[in-house]
Amino acid sequence: MNILVIGASGLVGSHCLNYFAQKQLSVIGTHLKFETDKTVFFDPLSKDGFDFLNNNFIPDTIIHCGALTNVDYCEENIVESYNLTVKSTKLVVEYCKSRNIKLVYISTDYIFDGINGPYTENQVPNPTNVYGKHKLEAEGIVQGLNDYIIARITNVYGEEERSKNFIAHLLTLIKSKTDKTFNLPYDQFATPIYAGDIARMLYLLISDGKKGIYNLSSTDYYNRYQLASKVKSYFSEADDLNLNAISTQSLQQKAKRPLLGGLLNNKFITEYPNFELTNVDAFILKTIKNGI
Ligand SMILES: NC(=O)c1ccc[n+]([C@@H]2O[C@H](COP(=O)([O-])OP(=O)(O)OC[C@H]3O[C@@H](n4cnc5c(N)ncnc54)[C@H](OP(=O)(O)O)[C@@H]3O)[C@@H](O)[C@H]2O)c1
Repeated sequence: MNILVIGASGLVGSHCLNYFAQKQLSVIGTHLKFETDKTVFFDPLSKDGFDFLNNNFIPDTIIHCGALTNVDYCEENIVESYNLTVKSTKLVVEYCKSRNIKLVYISTDYIFDGINGPYTENQVPNPTNVYGKHKLEAEGIVQGLNDYIIARITNVYGEEERSKNFIAHLLTLIKSKTDKTFNLPYDQFATPIYAGDIARMLYLLISDGKKGIYNLSSTDYYNRYQLASKVKSYFSEADDLNLNAISTQSLQQKAKRPLLGGLLNNKFITEYPNFELTNVDAFILKTIKNGI
């Protein structure tokens, strides 16, 4: 099987690239601005588009992780967000259509308004910020294909070259004993998931020829303050990390956030009852064991 991972310099894509390579699949990963030694440059919006693949590697499946993921930045840079998230997906979909390629599109719980989450696959989306609106529009384009998976995820954590994700960032600060204060919303809830689990789940779904929408989430359900407190609780030396619980309203983030967000994984777990999910505790313990 030939797999192309678009956005493999990022958190989710890098885990997919590593895991699929471990599984001895033929896999290529791409970056846009952040060059890594495991990825090749690819910009769906450039005039050369997919030419970089030549005829030596025609993918059977594309995992599309590419999007503008800074939610507050999207709110103020709508055209850029549209181009990177919607227009680029349109071009990826056209390529898949022309070559009969399966597309796995990575989406988000931000397509929901957060009034009554966590959400199932069947609930009606109602995004309240630019990022969520563009992700939903991209989902709609992907649904024009015969063979697609839309994998919705949220609040992803894990090992990452840039340590951008919240937990990796906290661990970096703890390790370096940096004095830092975080004001964290006690009213924004989500279902955090380990990026390595997403890669393992996608591997199963693709191998089994599954189609349609799947929520990929864990059974953890935390607000941002609880999540940070949990990480901190494992480290007696983390005194320099100051955590304040505050409301989302007082944070004044540029983009509106779904408050009761998160995703229910009943569909996936019903189809894969033996799948062992990582939770936040297990991930931190593993990190400590491996020497943070
Ligand atoms: N992380 C989360 O908590 C989370 C939650 C819900 C949904 N998601 C979705 O999951 C996907 C992956 O997220 P992530 O956290 O791994 O994001 P990330 O770390 O920001 O990585 C995004 C990746 O996509 C590349 N990229 C960005 N725009 C692109 C475009 N238009 N065409 C091709 N490549 C592009 C980036 O390249 P460079 O970095 O090299 O420029 C990077 O490799 C995204 O679609 C995101 O919306 C993530």
